[in-house]
Amino acid sequence: MSNNSSVVSPSLSATDHPLLQPLNIGGLTIENRLMVAPMAGVTDNPFRRLCKSFGAGHAVSEMIIADTALYARKKSLYRANFDNEIAPISAQIAGAEPDKLAEAARYQIDNGAQIIDINMGCPAKKVCRRLAGSALLQDEDLVARLLDAAVNAVDAPVTLKTRLGFENGRENILRVAKRAEQAGIAAIAIHGRTREDMYTGEARYELIRDVKESIGIPVIANGDIDSAQKAQRVYELTGCDAVMIGRAAQGQPWLFRDIGHFLQTGEKLDAPSVSDIKEIVLAHLQELYDFYGEYSGCRIARKHIAWYTTGIPNSNAFRQAMYGEESTAGQFQVVEAFLHAHE
Ligand SMILES: Cc1cc2nc3c(=O)[nH]c(=O)nc-3n(C[C@H](O)[C@H](O)[C@H](O)COP(=O)(O)O)c2cc1C
Repeated sequence: MSNNSSVVSPSLSATDHPLLQPLNIGGLTIENRLMVAPMAGVTDNPFRRLCKSFGAGHAVSEMIIADTALYARKKSLYRANFDNEIAPISAQIAGAEPDKLAEAARYQIDNGAQIIDINMGCPAKKVCRRLAGSALLQDEDLVARLLDAAVNAVDAPVTLKTRLGFENGRENILRVAKRAEQAGIAAIAIHGRTREDMYTGEARYELIRDVKESIGIPVIANGDIDSAQKAQRVYELTGCDAVMIGRAAQGQPWLFRDIGHFLQTGEKLDAPSVSDIKEIVLAHLQELYDFYGEYSGCRIARKHIAWYTTGIPNSNAFRQAMYGEESTAGQFQVVEAFLHAHE
């Protein structure tokens, strides 16, 4: 990686740029204001640690359904695994019943989380049908009861992640954010889209700015931030306290280092070479295999490998072959060979 001496860089040092300053969330200090967004199926324990090693100041777990009866299931155990994570650890929960949300919050604190994040942004049908995720935004009374229940359940900061509203033309983020602050929510992350938008169009930042101007708790801007310049622009447009990056970090966890470097120096880092990418991918694969074991490790690694190799010549054909590998050893070998051939 030109301009860089090490592949897995240590955390960024703070400069005068506001996004590189520590952030206080309910009494806990976050090293800087570049955050990786929670993404179910992506931001598992190995990926969160990887993003933090590249300078992300904060990472929230994948969404965990607020139903402790399900917590012995393998999927929940993986999602709520915080082993070796850099503090503060944040567990995201989603639910539509105040009692269950409170119980889940307590459970995750006992499980090692230091921050509880409530998901009111997920547009997935599976979640919305149970009136959780972003569907909750249609019922502000229920939103208020859920926030009160979670905040009162734990002696730890509770944060909220949400969207602009459920439908276009009926964006209610301003009311929701004010009620969240009143409930004692410690910070709010806002994806600049409604549920109706799903992921279409462009994220809208004006309402995030309006929220920032209306409340006193930290406001985290999210949606379509895919470069250092965009992070800077969203910061300027919203006056946000932090930026949160989701999809752009898939297959490029070094984005946090790139953004940090740009904000610190005004200069862009060169893209990592294939050799650099190889080193990062192989280390990431090993982490995934260790974490999930042989069967799931091999399967979960596939999407990461696909993201990492996008844009490398002949990667389509390589990916087809790679999907056929059923063992971690075989998968590791084909990835290593493909990247080696392009070094
Ligand atoms: C694959 C995927 C999974 C996601 N899972 C979650 C989740 O579990 N909890 C949540 O609050 N948001 C989830 N999101 C939404 C992201 O956190 C983020 O708000 C959204 O992707 C917009 O940010 P971006 O444009 O930087 O990707 C998910 C998004 C994606 C693409």
